[in-house]
Amino acid sequence: MRHHLASIVIAQFLQLGGLSSPGSADDLTDTREPTQRTETERTFVLTQMRLFLTAVAAIEEGLGAGDMDRVAREAAARGRKSTTTLVRPPTLTAKESETWKAMIASMRNGFDQIADEATARAPAEQINKTLAETMRNCVACHQTYRISVDGK
Ligand code: HEC
Repeated sequence: MRHHLASIVIAQFLQLGGLSSPGSADDLTDTREPTQRTETERTFVLTQMRLFLTAVAAIEEGLGAGDMDRVAREAAARGRKSTTTLVRPPTLTAKESETWKAMIASMRNGFDQIADEATARAPAEQINKTLAETMRNCVACHQTYRISVDGK
């Protein structure tokens, strides 16, 4: 496992090196679109983000251990139904673009689907595939946006 992780890190390192050569790290430009948030809104969004990542790890752990109840629980906690009780900064929704909202909605639906599949005891391969599709939203949004506070 450790060896596997290390080879991934090395592969990514080589890949990054390949992309940035022959320039240096100083030449890197951030092409993501800045999206304005207050400090409080940013803290809220990033806290949610860390929960998404934690859920992905827990879902994979559950799948690896054959613990489908855990998979269902962790996924449902990040799904659409869970947002009804979520206390959000009131100013946030108005700042979210349609693209942003669409990616979040698609991701939340994906978590719901994972929860449903785990509850129905679908094969781990199928749930992994749904998770991969769900995570396309993470990747797409991260490539599109960065959070900007006070125009920085
Ligand atoms: C609709 C857009 C969007 C989606 C979907 C999204 N993210 Fe993010 N995420 C962001 C933005 C924007 C940032 C901040 C990036 C920046 O400002 O550099 C971020 C930051 C993060 C961070 C860093 C948190 C921190 O404390 O700095 C993690 C971890 C993360 N996202 C995980 C995920 C995972 C996992 C998913 C999918 C399951 C996901 N995100 C889906 C937009 C999104």
